[in-house]
Amino acid sequence: MLAVKNLTSYYSNIKILKDISFSLEKGKVLCLLGRNGAGKTTTLKSLMGLVDKTEGLISFNDEKISGISAHYIPKKGIGYVPQGRRLFSELTVEENLEIGLLTRGKGEITKNNVLTMFPRLKERLDQISGTLSGGEQQMLALARALCIEPSLLLLDEPTEGLQPSMISLIRKSILELKKQGVAILLVEQRVEAILSIADEILVIENGSIVFSANANEVQKDHKKLYSFLGV
Ligand SMILES: Nc1ncnc2c1ncn2[C@@H]1O[C@H](COP(=O)(O)OP(=O)(O)OP(=O)(O)O)[C@@H](O)[C@H]1O
Ligand SMILES: [Mg+2]
Repeated sequence: MLAVKNLTSYYSNIKILKDISFSLEKGKVLCLLGRNGAGKTTTLKSLMGLVDKTEGLISFNDEKISGISAHYIPKKGIGYVPQGRRLFSELTVEENLEIGLLTRGKGEITKNNVLTMFPRLKERLDQISGTLSGGEQQMLALARALCIEPSLLLLDEPTEGLQPSMISLIRKSILELKKQGVAILLVEQRVEAILSIADEILVIENGSIVFSANANEVQKDHKKLYSFLGV
């Protein structure tokens, strides 16, 4: 469903990503690991058309999406939850969801499905989203991305700074989406948090992929992965 070939990305002519290649199938979770500044966020932004310049080929459902305007990418069914949430914080919970729904012309059915997944948001539809707790804001960011009914979801450190109960809720939602056939590209810092939900693992270092493995292989032998992460 998603195929990335020799992706190279630049911010104002500085090369950040170098020849990244990977693919992701329906219903699979691919975890992108790496130290601070390795290029994880840049990888997701490149997929969303949000970096200054990219080379290489990104295709989604056999259609080339590299080079198209960032505005059209969510319309293809690619949901994105940026690092640090990025809500419209002066708008209410409901208004944030409405913006998500508008992107692909989805309506009440989608909204109700999403709210069933996050009952806590349902109780807070009129609350200004900037006043939600950190965990609730993360939930809203995820809920808003789900309002486009994505077939591919990009999550940038969705559990950053959250307490264990929130983390397990987010994990549960990821597993539920996976079951529904959504492909998920998940950026995480903590290996332990993802090993049990990942199908494939990639480690990025200094803009290049330095390790790639099936999660089962890694479960059996952590050593090599840990050596790349400096754990
Ligand atoms: N808008 C930008 N302009 C110039 N350089 C940038 C920009 N955004 C990121 N960079 C640089 O690109 C490199 C990769 O950053 P990126 O945000 O992708 O890292 P990351 O792996 O997501 O790190 P973290 O774990 O800290 O979120 C860093 O050296 C960063 O300083
Ligand atoms: Mg990042």
